[in-house]
Amino acid sequence: EKGGYDYFMDKEIDEQPQAVADTLLGRISAEGRLQLDEMRMSESELRSVDKVIVIAAGTSYHAGMIAKYAIEHWTRIPVEVELASEFRYRDPILTRDTLVLVISQSGETADTLMALRHAKDQHARVLAICNSNGATIPREADAVVYTHGGPEIAVASTKAFLTQLIACYLVGLYLAQVRAAKFPDEIADILEQLSQAPAKVRETLDRMGPVRELGRLLKDEGRVLFLGRHVGYPVALEGALKLKELAYVHAEGFAAGELKHGPIALVDQGLPVVVVVPPADRPLLHDKIVSNIQEIRARGARTIVIAEDGDTAVAPFADTLIYVPELPTLLQPLVATVPLQVFASALADAKGLDVDQPRNLAKSVTVE
Ligand code: M6R
Repeated sequence: EKGGYDYFMDKEIDEQPQAVADTLLGRISAEGRLQLDEMRMSESELRSVDKVIVIAAGTSYHAGMIAKYAIEHWTRIPVEVELASEFRYRDPILTRDTLVLVISQSGETADTLMALRHAKDQHARVLAICNSNGATIPREADAVVYTHGGPEIAVASTKAFLTQLIACYLVGLYLAQVRAAKFPDEIADILEQLSQAPAKVRETLDRMGPVRELGRLLKDEGRVLFLGRHVGYPVALEGALKLKELAYVHAEGFAAGELKHGPIALVDQGLPVVVVVPPADRPLLHDKIVSNIQEIRARGARTIVIAEDGDTAVAPFADTLIYVPELPTLLQPLVATVPLQVFASALADAKGLDVDQPRNLAKSVTVE
């Protein structure tokens, strides 16, 4: 059933172009309008939303962090993101006009379910993004947008993450569509770019040979740092989480701008640091991270740089340079995450670890 792969994780990584395509399928009309038929929330309900709170755990939380950037930018509705395990313990402010977006691959995560129940008790409206048909979370939510990733068996979440991103983008764009009198050009462009995402993820996968090689090469590293800015920051957190859970490496993700507020003290000779570079369509962001790469390299870091095709500015400062296909900044996580998944899987495999079934972990965490 692993279809010739050593691990489900590797199979699931390779299934990502299809999973992304399936999650987009039927949701963008030929006229470039979004249709989320199963949404079960009226347009007038969605027009009255004045705040969005995204709640999730682990990898799904990282998807939620990215959702905040996208939804705020497209809709101008304030978005908060919160770990499910923290949410109900802080007396959150919820009203009927709060849209709570819960994200869960399994639909059974206890922390997320408890957060959902708390939100409903406070009369907020709950929209679930879920990969498992009929699971408890989509059943208890007011509405659901399913990701069509197919079953994810490896403990480490991969294709679920990419499809959650797609679902978050679709929800954000749908909110923009129902609330805006006219659909702005930027959004039409994003829809067009989204339709190209499956091919771009496929292209990224086709380039993963050197990344696997790098994973093998770095199998004895005890520490790895990940840096990003903007949506690259949650991607960095996701890369670090994959490496922790699969390879038991002490990996940390940081917002690159935080370096000089502490983490740069960790950098010493030979420390591998993975940097996610934003596309050149955001020059300010891009240039800032190029100087961050220079700063860490001057202190001896071994820089592993993920940048978009054609970005030659980073080349002089990269010990390893991994190019990914071009996408607008907000969509870049769809391709930038893939090398981090492959890297973690290859490194864990080189250490002789069970990639699909890391120690101490369960696929679905049904206790708080
Ligand atoms: O099923 P869920 O999306 O609710 O699960 C949330 C986390 O437990 C999950 O993403 C976990 O962090 C993964 N093992 C990460 O790879």
